[in-house]
Amino acid sequence: MRVTIRDLKRMKSRGERVPMLTAYDYTSALLVEAAGVPLILVGDSLGQWVLGYGTTLPVTMDDMVHHVKAVVRGTETAHVVADMPFMSYQAEPAEAVRNAGRMLQEGGAQSVKLEGGVSLVETVGRLVTAGIPVMGHIGFTPQSYNQIGGYRVQGRFPKAAASLIDDAVALESAGCYAVVLEMVPAQLASLITERLSIPTIGIASGVHCDGQVQVFHDMFGLIEDFVPKHARRYADLGAIIKSAVSEYAADVRSASYPSDEESHQMKPEALEKLTADLAGL
Ligand code: KIV
Repeated sequence: MRVTIRDLKRMKSRGERVPMLTAYDYTSALLVEAAGVPLILVGDSLGQWVLGYGTTLPVTMDDMVHHVKAVVRGTETAHVVADMPFMSYQAEPAEAVRNAGRMLQEGGAQSVKLEGGVSLVETVGRLVTAGIPVMGHIGFTPQSYNQIGGYRVQGRFPKAAASLIDDAVALESAGCYAVVLEMVPAQLASLITERLSIPTIGIASGVHCDGQVQVFHDMFGLIEDFVPKHARRYADLGAIIKSAVSEYAADVRSASYPSDEESHQMKPEALEKLTADLAGL
């Protein structure tokens, strides 16, 4: 049985913190679930870290469904959240319902995440009514990168902070089961967390959120020249992989890979017969 939105709300009421991590493929999903993470986000950040785009904007519904399916195949108990990509939900609530429906029906996700506050209340209501659980996402919203003008902390000043509180409250009232707070000051994240009965999941938003989400590639140092302020590197896999690959390349060049033990052998009689047959040709 997978973790449900009721389990997540219960975790907040018991004061249990919620760890969340992105995963974009079968293998990483297996590892993340085996390590006990209950909530996995197939983030549209895969546009940058898996597909090599400069932002999340080029990611399509087909890209997302493809990766959501892989993550779902790699999990049995985790709740898989599918990120709705840019322009899959902004234009029309009916289009949002159809696209979010694909994430559950084709992808096998348990819920979807979308970026935005008060302006998405109608859309969230329509999704929830259609039976699609929604995680909100406010603060820095990467799909609005061009509108915001770069990666910037949101809600530093009273007016912007009050409007983020309104967004969070509106999303809860519209039926969201949780909300991501990205790049908001820790004090504001704390105020929002106290006001909501649904869990807040922070990224670059301090320790007072009910849960935290990190991007897989940040956490494991897979993109060596990109280290956001909030990202704690729990392992430097980029360096480990690079050194292993250069050792492998050197072994191939010096013919010390593969060894006899790493190769398949013919039985001596078979080799003898082959040699005789070849000699008789
Ligand atoms: O796409 C993503 O990885 C996200 C997280 C940053 C929350 O939306």
